Order: sequence, then C-alpha cells, then structure tokens
Amino acid sequence: MKTKKTVFSTILLALVVSICAQSADTLKIKPSFYEVSDYVDENENCLKCHGETKYSYSDADRGKTLTKIMYPDLIVDRDAYYDGVHRSFMCSDCHMGDFEEFPHSLDARMEDNFACIDCHGYDETYAQYHFEVIDAEFAESIHSIDGFSCWNCHDPHSYKPNMRDTEDIKEAIRFNNGMCLECHNNFSNFMLLSDKDEINVVESHDWLPNQVAHFRSVRCIECHTEINDSILVAHKILPKKEAVQQCAECHSRNSRLMHSLYKFQSQKDRKAGYVNSVILNDTFVIGANPSPLLDGISVVVFILSFLVILFHTALRIIKLRN
Ligand code: HEC
Ligand code: HEC
Ligand code: HEC
Ligand code: HEC
Ligand code: HEC
Ligand code: HEC
Ligand code: HEC
Repeated sequence: MKTKKTVFSTILLALVVSICAQSADTLKIKPSFYEVSDYVDENENCLKCHGETKYSYSDADRGKTLTKIMYPDLIVDRDAYYDGVHRSFMCSDCHMGDFEEFPHSLDARMEDNFACIDCHGYDETYAQYHFEVIDAEFAESIHSIDGFSCWNCHDPHSYKPNMRDTEDIKEAIRFNNGMCLECHNNFSNFMLLSDKDEINVVESHDWLPNQVAHFRSVRCIECHTEINDSILVAHKILPKKEAVQQCAECHSRNSRLMHSLYKFQSQKDRKAGYVNSVILNDTFVIGANPSPLLDGISVVVFILSFLVILFHTALRIIKLRN
C-alpha cells in the first residue's frame, strides 16, 4: 500500500516538474525585445503602423480616424528586426526625424540612405568582413546599375550573416539562393531595376542535369562569381557568358567549391575528408575517394606476391645448386 502511494506521488511529481520545465522553455524561446534593444518603445512609434497589416491615423481636416491597409512592402517584421545585427538601433538612427510626422513629408520620402560602407568601412572592429573588398567587388559586378545597392540583397531590417555561422549548410544554401530568386524568379521586382526581358531561370539552366539537386547543393554565386580568397562570400557577379559551365570545375579533385562554398568547412574538416565525400562522386572522378581499407588490402597483396616471388626464386636457386 505504502509503495503504491510513493510510486503515485513520484509520477505526479515528475509530471509537475516536466510541465514546469516545458513552460519555462517556451518562455525562454522568446526573449523579450527589451533584452536586445534599449529603444523598443521609441521604435513602436513607427512599428504601430509599419509592424502591422493595417494602420490608423487621424485626419485633422475631416476630424475623424481612418484605417487603411499597410503596403506589404513597407511592413517591418518585429521578430526579424530584433534578431538582426542592427537590432540595437533606433529606426531614426537610419531614417530622418521627419518620419515622425504622418503623412510623411516629401523630404522624408526622398531621403538618401546610408550605405554599409558608410558605417563599416575602414573600421578595425569589422575587419574580418572586408567591407572595402566587398564594396569594390560590387562596384564591378553586373548589378552595379542605377537603383541597385547592397540593400537589394541585404534587408536593412533583418540582416544577419548566414553562411558564416551556419550549422546547416543546406538551409544556408536555400537562404542564399532565395536572395537571388527574389528578383530572378519574380519579374515584378526585376522590372523595377531593368528594361531587360523576363528571364526564365529554369530554362536558362537546362544544360545542368538534376537541376533541383544542384540548386539544393550549391549556391548561385558558386557559378556566377569570380573566386576571391580574401573574402568569405564573393560579390563580383560576372556577365552570364563568364559563368561556370564545366562540370569538372566542381566535380574534380581541385574543386572550385573548396574556394567558395566549402571555404569554412574545408578548413575545419579537411582531415575528415568532408569535401571528398560530398562532391567527389565516384561516377565522376574515378579514384578520387582513396579508401584506407582498399589501400591496406593492396599493400598486403603486394607484399604477399613479393614474398611468393622471393620464395619461388629461392627454391629455384636451391634446385639449380643441387
Ligand atoms: C500613422 C502610420 C505611420 C507611422 C506612425 C509611420 N509611418 Fe512610415 N509610412 C506610413 C505609410 C502609410 C507609408 C506609405 C505612404 C507614404 O509614403 O506616405 C509610409 C512610408 C514610409 C517609408 C517609405 C518612404 C518611401 O516612399 O520610400 C519609410 C522609410 C517610413 N515610412 C519610415 C517611417 C519611420 C522611420 C517611422 C517612425 C519614425 C514611420 N515611418 C512612422 C505610415 C506610417
Ligand atoms: C541599419 C539602418 C536601418 C534601420 C535601423 C532601420 N532602417 Fe528602415 N530602411 C533602411 C534602408 C537602407 C532602407 C531602404 C531600403 C532599400 O532601398 O531597399 C529602409 C527602408 C525602410 C522602409 C521602406 C520600405 C523598405 O523596406 O524598403 C520602411 C517602411 C522602413 N525602412 C521602416 C523602418 C522602421 C520602422 C525601422 C525601425 C523599426 C527602421 N526602418 C530601421 C535602413 C534602416
Ligand atoms: C548607420 C550605420 C550602419 C549601417 C548603414 C550598416 N551598419 Fe552594420 N552595424 C552597425 C553597427 C553600429 C553595428 C554594431 C551593432 C551592435 O554591436 O549592436 C553593426 C553590426 C553589423 C554586423 C555584425 C558585426 C559583428 O561582427 O558583430 C554586420 C555583419 C553588419 N553590421 C553588416 C552590415 C551590412 C552588410 C550593412 C549594409 C547592408 C550594414 N551593416 C549597414 C552600423 C551600421
Ligand atoms: C546580389 C546580391 C548581393 C548584393 C548586391 C550584395 N550582397 Fe553581400 N552577400 C550576398 C550573399 C548571397 C551573401 C552570403 C549570405 C550569407 O550566407 O551570409 C552575402 C554576404 C555578405 C556579408 C557577410 C560576409 C561574411 O564574411 O560573413 C557582408 C559583410 C556583405 N555581404 C556585405 C555586402 C555589401 C557591403 C554590399 C554592397 C557593397 C553587398 N553585400 C551587396 C549577396 C549580395
Ligand atoms: C534586386 C533584384 C536582384 C537580385 C536580388 C539579384 N539580381 Fe541578378 N539581376 C537583376 C537585374 C535587374 C539584372 C539585369 C541587369 C541589367 O539590366 O544589366 C540582373 C542580371 C543578372 C545576371 C545576368 C547578367 C547578364 O550577363 O545578362 C546574372 C547572372 C545575375 N543577375 C545573377 C544574380 C545572382 C547570382 C544573384 C544572387 C546572388 C542575383 N542575381 C540577385 C536583379 C537582381
Ligand atoms: C552550375 C553552375 C550554375 C549555377 C549553380 C547557377 N547558374 Fe545561372 N547560369 C550558369 C551559366 C553557365 C549560365 C549561362 C547560360 C547560357 O549562356 O546559356 C547561366 C545563366 C544565368 C542567367 C542569365 C540567363 C539568361 O538567359 O540571360 C541568370 C539570370 C542566372 N544564371 C541566374 C542564376 C541564379 C539566380 C542561380 C541560383 C538559383 C543560378 N543562376 C545558378 C551557371 C549556373
Ligand atoms: C558549382 C559546382 C558544380 C558544377 C559546375 C556541376 N556540379 Fe554536379 N554537383 C555539384 C554538387 C555540390 C553536387 C551534390 C553532391 C551531393 O550532395 O551528393 C552535385 C551533384 C551532381 C550529380 C548527382 C545528383 C544527384 O541526384 O545526386 C550529378 C549527376 C551531377 N552533379 C552532374 C553534373 C554535370 C553533368 C555537370 C556539368 C554539366 C555538373 N554536375 C556541374 C556541384 C557541381
């Protein structure tokens, strides 16, 4: 009777503990925005409109409050904002004070935006990113046209480095390629920047077998940029004529992926043979995957045959002497 009671209360206790732990966990998943920013309340002055799908304002002339739909392109996601590298910023660190008034003035709407290099250029703190090199590469890239800036690929309100810190390379590849497809798979975005005709990315990569598998395993920039070993992510997008089309550029012992996609991994895991296992498919590079077992067996076979020959010769010599 006593043991039954103890068992029952132990189970009850375990249940209570696990429920408490779980609710503590859910609380932990969402750290308060106040923990990462000193300006949450100030930012709400903008986010009460730009963080919502609808906004209201009082029309002084007509003396009433109007509610309208916020343009989807002008919505700033709070979670993403407070997760990005610039989460500690006030909106007005980058935007004119004039925006505090609504309707926004023409001056405000015509504001010039900062470029990354304005804040990060020639600063020791950010030396590891080599902003100056990236800036120079972008200036030479095919995207260096009117209206195109770093912000077209790096959202000012959510940016954070991806590839650099990733644990999940497939996910990082998906994110990276999504950045390009934002325009190359969405003509209304492309059209804002160029008069060129619509490009169908699937058709222009017809020559590539297993397109889906490739786009899941490599980034667009693997084939469309020039290799630059001084930065982690090459930024000089070349004209299409100069894009990589030769299979052997990747499917070979001296794969260009070692200088791009696997730059970090290849340094960390060189010994583990990571790259070999990922890209050096046996069907493409015969003998590219040295196997310790096979190597061992062939050495043993070699030594055995040598011994057999030696033994045979010795027997012959002895026979001849006799
Ligand atoms: C009452 C709602 C409201 C508030 C508050 C508000 N905005 Fe806006 N904002 C809008 C609307 C609506 C538009 C689009 C129409 C326009 O440009 O006036 C807009 C446009 C903008 C644009 C795009 C301008 C352009 O044309 O490219 C920026 C940038 C902007 N707001 C920043 C801010 C900032 C920063 C704050 C806070 C200091 C802020 N807004 C506060 C409603 C608001
Ligand atoms: C690190 C600088 C920076 C901070 C901080 C910042 N913005 Fe922006 N914002 C920009 C830049 C740059 C653009 C122009 C983007 C472009 O040209 O594509 C922009 C554009 C906008 C736009 C126009 C729509 C768009 O996304 O292009 C709105 C609205 C806006 N910001 C609101 C805000 C609000 C609200 C905050 C604060 C919660 C904020 N911004 C904080 C740099 C910043
Ligand atoms: C208005 C100035 C300003 C602009 C514009 C700006 N940044 Fe920053 N950025 C900062 C500051 C300041 C920090 C440090 C924030 C902190 O520590 O809370 C930072 C942090 C970063 C970090 C994290 C650095 C680290 O090692 O912790 C990266 C990466 C970064 N920015 C990239 C960019 C990129 C890319 C752009 C352009 C697309 C850009 N920034 C535009 C001021 C700026
Ligand atoms: C055509 C799109 C595109 C443009 C334009 C662009 N970038 Fe990038 N950038 C990328 C991609 C893709 C990555 C890799 C993203 C990731 O995984 O972190 C990246 C990564 C970065 C990084 C992180 C590199 C690291 O070492 O972790 C920085 C810093 C950066 N870009 C700065 C810039 C600056 C500055 C400009 C403008 C001069 C710019 N980018 C313009 C696509 C672009
Ligand atoms: C903001 C929109 C936008 C994004 C994001 C973007 N592109 Fe583009 N891209 C364009 C436009 C616009 C053109 C046409 C430029 C012109 O008119 O010459 C273009 C042209 C190209 C071309 C063709 C060049 C030629 O010779 O015809 C290639 C290749 C290309 N982009 C690759 C990329 C890659 C790779 C990425 C991602 C890292 C990317 N783009 C991201 C808008 C974009
Ligand atoms: C395996 C290498 C490789 C990969 C990966 C790759 N491309 Fe390409 N891409 C090429 C080559 C080669 C061409 C030129 C084809 C031609 O001239 O017919 C090209 C052409 C293009 C063009 C110009 C098409 C035209 O008809 O004008 C664009 C835009 C483009 N690629 C974007 C992308 C985007 C976006 C991605 C990622 C989703 C990507 N590419 C991934 C090799 C690649
Ligand atoms: C930019 C580098 C790159 C180029 C160029 C490239 N490949 Fe690949 N390829 C890869 C990677 C990475 C994988 C994925 C290996 C894995 O994940 O197992 C792959 C996988 C494959 C696969 C196996 C697909 C599957 O379903 O598992 C085949 C077949 C293939 N490539 C053929 C080719 C041919 C043929 C060409 C030339 C027309 C080519 N590749 C060009 C990088 C490349």
